[in-house]
Amino acid sequence: MTGTPDLHADDLHRSAQDPALAAIGFLNEVMSRYPEAISFAPGAPHPEFMRDIDTRALTDRFVAHLVDERGFAPDSAQRALYEYGPAQGLINGLVAEALGADQGIRADPREIVITVGAQEALLLTLRALFRHSGGDDLIAIADPCYAGIIGTARLLDIPVVPLREGEAGLDVDHLAAQCREAREQGRRIRACYVAPDFSNPGGARMPLASRHELLDLAEREDLLLIEDNAYGFTATEDDGLPGLKALDSRRRVVHVGTFAKVGFPGARVGYAVADQRVQHGDGERTLAEELAVLKTMTTVNTPPLAQAVVGGLLLDHGRSLAELGRSKAQRYRRNLQCLLDALDRHLGDDLPPGITWQRPAGGFFVRIDIPVAADLALLELSAAEYGVLWTPMGQFSLTDRCDRQLRLSCSYLDPDQIEQGVKRLATFLREEAAA
Ligand SMILES: Cc1ncc(COP(=O)(O)O)c(C=O)c1O
Repeated sequence: MTGTPDLHADDLHRSAQDPALAAIGFLNEVMSRYPEAISFAPGAPHPEFMRDIDTRALTDRFVAHLVDERGFAPDSAQRALYEYGPAQGLINGLVAEALGADQGIRADPREIVITVGAQEALLLTLRALFRHSGGDDLIAIADPCYAGIIGTARLLDIPVVPLREGEAGLDVDHLAAQCREAREQGRRIRACYVAPDFSNPGGARMPLASRHELLDLAEREDLLLIEDNAYGFTATEDDGLPGLKALDSRRRVVHVGTFAKVGFPGARVGYAVADQRVQHGDGERTLAEELAVLKTMTTVNTPPLAQAVVGGLLLDHGRSLAELGRSKAQRYRRNLQCLLDALDRHLGDDLPPGITWQRPAGGFFVRIDIPVAADLALLELSAAEYGVLWTPMGQFSLTDRCDRQLRLSCSYLDPDQIEQGVKRLATFLREEAAA
């Protein structure tokens, strides 16, 4: 860049300089500098699942569905793909059917808004629920957590309260204590973000009893739970637990989902189930309808072409998210097992002091505790000298509790790369972290 700058960073919204928002860019940059390194960093779907997507066949399938089942004339069904569409979405009915069949979530299409990824669903939900920026309403977030929710809160100037999350998921007692503390200060926790099934990055899963406790607490404290279910599909059939929304008989949960993992991330299609009733002078609307009003000022509508591709995928898989995700879930479970086995093989005997890892039953991620700071300098060393990349967990946390932890993702690699990568990681940890 040449010449004098035109603007100063201090004059821009402060989220542009927030480390939580900068972390993803930094990781991408490190990966591009070390293309030969084996990377346990990306939480992205395996590239093989992108190979055989026939978008033309999928959109044709969806157009036929519009004509045969939804009463569209053939030319207006075709046009629906290329014109602006309804802000609330085109595939709400199919998503409602799939959620009902697979996850026991009973939602009317009016209670669903189709969004540009789960990310937009989070943005719209937070914007709607928090009347003022920087006010007395707080969002509680299970910590460590997905960078997308911290970033959204920062973007909207919503104050955040981090909550402890252990291997058994969100600490519900901690949330109760934080609600009391906020009340004593004349503030309130308005909403709580939680991923009960195999959280990113912690890999935590909440037992059934804590899910019920959390729902009861939400009712007592009059707060809403924002449930993010990106990785729930990786549970085995006999190990599945009902999500918060399936257990929610009091409309306390806004459920956020994505097609990024069961489908493909480039579609940028997600959704929110928001069945809460909102009173207006002239009647009632669902919260999903309110979110759709806000959406007209963010992305106007989720691209109909992308929705048609996702709709086609659902139609091709018996209108079932579980069916759509089945072969993917199998691969991710196999990869996770390979990763855990390789860690046992290469680090388990004569385990260096201070190194431990957890054993999630699903999801993409394994967390490793090490005895030194897992920071960007250590990552750089790991990449340059040992040819292996991982993600510092501190980037996903609002506290310093995760500063000596790293996250490994198993989704993007093949078993032989996992084996090779763990071998390199074990050498690196023995020589650098345990030294
Ligand atoms: C917890 C969590 N939620 C949501 C998403 C996906 O969001 P999107 O649909 O915007 O790609 C991810 C992707 O990494 C995630 O880890």
